[in-house]
Amino acid sequence: MRVALVTIFPEVVDLASFSILRIAREKGLLELVEIDPREFTHDLHRTVDDAPFGGGAGMVMKPGPLFRAIERAKEKVPGAPVYLLSPAGEPFTQQTAREWSKLPGFTLVCGRYEGIDARVEAMVDGLVSLGDFVLSGGELAAMAMVDAVCRLIPGVVGRAESVSEESFEGGLLEYPHYTRPAEFEGREVPEVLLSGDHSRIASWRRRESIRLTWERRPDLLLSAPLDPEDKRCLTELIGGEGESA
Ligand code: ADE
Repeated sequence: MRVALVTIFPEVVDLASFSILRIAREKGLLELVEIDPREFTHDLHRTVDDAPFGGGAGMVMKPGPLFRAIERAKEKVPGAPVYLLSPAGEPFTQQTAREWSKLPGFTLVCGRYEGIDARVEAMVDGLVSLGDFVLSGGELAAMAMVDAVCRLIPGVVGRAESVSEESFEGGLLEYPHYTRPAEFEGREVPEVLLSGDHSRIASWRRRESIRLTWERRPDLLLSAPLDPEDKRCLTELIGGEGESA
């Protein structure tokens, strides 16, 4: 997969020099191409921003250098969608990560300063947001998205189950994990995990997934695919809470 990042901070790709992103790049499964809008400026100071028309605080990224950088990205990753990072974009979710992981590539355009000239929106396929908060620029959001996508590319993460069983994959949060020692500071690992009984372990994990989702993200349960056994388990959990209340 080839991902182009349009950014005035191309050093941000250094974040891909360790862990999963490094492995993916080494295996040739991910290629990052940085395109700096400053390279498409024509003045001595390589100016990429200017004061807003109509007045107001802060600077706005000029459309010209961004436009030309996006054109270059389209040459580098032909036919791939181009998304502008913005808190006003469509929320990026695990579903987005899954969809993007099937693409041969995509381009992420990082905004900076107070904003970017609104005409740049006409040059992209969509706006995407990492969440309901404002970052000082799109770079960290872009790298978070690249990480989420990259680990879903077949061959990047060691065992396929590592990604297929984790949070959001089945519409639920993931079950809790434990490792040695079996007892730590007086807290014990659930007995079932030491039993070697794989079917009991699987049902315990499913139940814990449902329990944690109910406790921490009940909104997810509205759309999670639950079988009759899951629903029984959920009813028990809800009933149990009613009793203790
Ligand atoms: N740029 C600034 N804030 C952002 C956010 N929440 N998501 C994506 N890009 C951003």
